[in-house]
Amino acid sequence: MIQETIVTTQNSQGITHIAPMGIHVDGENFIILPFRPSTTLNNFLETKVGVINYCDDVRVFAGCLTGRRDWPLKPAQEISGKVLECALAHAEVELIRIEEDATRPKLFCKTLHTVNNAPFKGFNRAQFSVLEAAILISRLELLPLQKIESEIEYLRIGLEKTAGERELESWGWIMEVLNNYKRKTVA
Ligand SMILES: Cc1cc2nc3c(=O)[nH]c(=O)nc-3n(C[C@H](O)[C@H](O)[C@H](O)COP(=O)(O)O)c2cc1C
Repeated sequence: MIQETIVTTQNSQGITHIAPMGIHVDGENFIILPFRPSTTLNNFLETKVGVINYCDDVRVFAGCLTGRRDWPLKPAQEISGKVLECALAHAEVELIRIEEDATRPKLFCKTLHTVNNAPFKGFNRAQFSVLEAAILISRLELLPLQKIESEIEYLRIGLEKTAGERELESWGWIMEVLNNYKRKTVA
């Protein structure tokens, strides 16, 4: 199974990087697959540890894809790293093996410590819409615009029926990027 998470890593100077990543779950452990070039990859190679944050605030996902990477953090418990303050749960992990690949290496990570920070409050369709739309705008250069627009129209149905403020704000950021791209490519 692939879970959509936020991965926090640090470089050797202690600067934290926040990135949405779909990670592969392998029992208690995880495989992270960053596309090169990747700050997440560089940080894992430098410091060997990171945090997998389970987060239902979709503003972090949409924000990271639209230039808003500054989210509140707190110290991890067992590693030298940072946890998202809004994470419902998190896993502190250590890099144990790399399977090299020119495009997308596999980072095999072992879980050292897991923490439940707050209760999971159930599924929400608008959150799904925001995640899917965030992935679409990360592929603007790769997918035909017509396909992106038809998928956005479908995702808008769940959004309009079920969104709260966080989901609406995230959707606005994504639409701004899409509209700017359309203006640029149509002009
Ligand atoms: C839900 C979601 C899942 C993503 N999963 C991945 C992933 O598995 N690998 C990846 O390289 N980028 C993924 N991305 C895009 C990255 O978050 C984005 O490109 C980011 O800048 C990664 O590069 P970095 O490590 O340099 O920050 C995902 C984005 C979203 C919204």
